[in-house]
Amino acid sequence: MLKQTSNARHSAVVGLQWGDEGKGKIVDLLTPEHQVIVRYNGGANAGHTVVVEDQRYALHQVPSGILSTHCICVVGNGVVVDPARILTEINELRERGVAVGDNLRISSRAHVVMPYHHELDGALEEFLARQDQGRQIGTTRRGIGPAYADKVLRSTAIRVGDLLDHATLMHQLKMICPLREAQLRSLGVEANLDPAQEADRAAELGEALRPFITDTTWLLHDAIANGDKLLFEGANACLLDVDHGTYPYVTSSNCSTLGIPAGTGVPMRNIDRVLGIMKAYSTRVGEGPFPTELHDEIGSQIRERGREFGTTTGRPRRCGWLDLVAVRYTAMVCGADAIACTLFDVLGGLEEVRICTGYRFPDGTVTDRFTANARTIADAEPIYETMPGWDDPVTPPEDREALPDAARRYLDRIEEFVGVPIEIVSVGPERSEVLVES
Ligand code: GDP
Ligand code: IMO
Ligand code: MG
Repeated sequence: MLKQTSNARHSAVVGLQWGDEGKGKIVDLLTPEHQVIVRYNGGANAGHTVVVEDQRYALHQVPSGILSTHCICVVGNGVVVDPARILTEINELRERGVAVGDNLRISSRAHVVMPYHHELDGALEEFLARQDQGRQIGTTRRGIGPAYADKVLRSTAIRVGDLLDHATLMHQLKMICPLREAQLRSLGVEANLDPAQEADRAAELGEALRPFITDTTWLLHDAIANGDKLLFEGANACLLDVDHGTYPYVTSSNCSTLGIPAGTGVPMRNIDRVLGIMKAYSTRVGEGPFPTELHDEIGSQIRERGREFGTTTGRPRRCGWLDLVAVRYTAMVCGADAIACTLFDVLGGLEEVRICTGYRFPDGTVTDRFTANARTIADAEPIYETMPGWDDPVTPPEDREALPDAARRYLDRIEEFVGVPIEIVSVGPERSEVLVES
């Protein structure tokens, strides 16, 4: 369908900002050319919106290819799976007439988000806020951090495959429950975790998920050998990457493309096209530095026009000007071959628009290099280029050439600064509202 992607074998879609760039829409758009859509990181913290013929779907753990009947959707080993929530998501999709069966596969080696992970996530956030307002991360409270922490701890982890074995669950939970109870109590939450009850609940959810659970590493390599085209769907985004984002205000996984090999078992050399998704401006949810944040009328206007309220939590998103210092860095880290610039329509009608192309620090130094550290970025004052705005086109443009001059200049400047071509411009939530470079 999209000319420029037709020669790529396997592709990746990744967020180049702080999330919610419209990855779901772009994955849906690219789905016709791919047979397998693969999530490699994150969990129910993600909220990917796909709009098809006035129907709006918010996908959290199920890959965004599920709406296309020809696709196999894979939840890779790098994802943290919340069994109750993914079952709800599956049921809700089925109620809306979406077929979910053999087309969804979940890695037996993915880690499980347990109810005590949710409690710990919330309890830790509240503890931090009580100690020192602003210290909390502003997580989605989906248990993501505590579940990944258990993965790295190893001895206290539960994997999806374990859900199919009651004896293993019981053995693990007898040891885990007292530890987690003590931890919750230390955070001021009275907890009573009964290993047998937890094991029964987990095993019941495991039974319901049994048809979907498999060794996805072999499945993916078989698909590759079979000539299928894979599309890797990043969740969250590069500035939230635990190693390469604005640490500690990040999520707990490698959401950049660097997470793909570890999170799926597919080597990076199999992926020959990385499409970075970037909004025409910036947003962020939760705490953490955001140099170009707007606290004024323009910020509110962008929030209203872009419907910038969280897909997962409903929280209003913080809005600001496009930060190209950040995007040039994330395009570099993710190895972006091309950019999809989304929500471009939202900027229409502004008298002037600004792009951040440098940071100035309190000691007077200036840089155009992003540093992946929240404390450094918190001190950065943006240096802007101001450009004339443009009116909303009277008729929807068919291609980039048909955009108003000022709108084209804005896109040209992004390409020039980042050094990566913009091949898709999205001008509305619908599948069809897109301009593709020919
Ligand atoms: P994701 O997490 O990256 O998949 O993004 P979200 O779904 O959380 O947020 C993106 C929001 O923008 C959703 O409500 C989309 O329907 C919407 N959207 C996507 N592309 C466009 C666009 O080009 N214009 C407008 N106005 N909305 C868009
Ligand atoms: P999608 O895939 C926007 C943010 C949270 C918080 C931080 C840590 O829809 O783009 P966590 O619950 O992961 O421990 O929260 O990361 N965050 C997201 N923000 N979009 C997302 O996903 C996000 N996933 C996590 O708001 O600041
Ligand atoms: Mg989202």
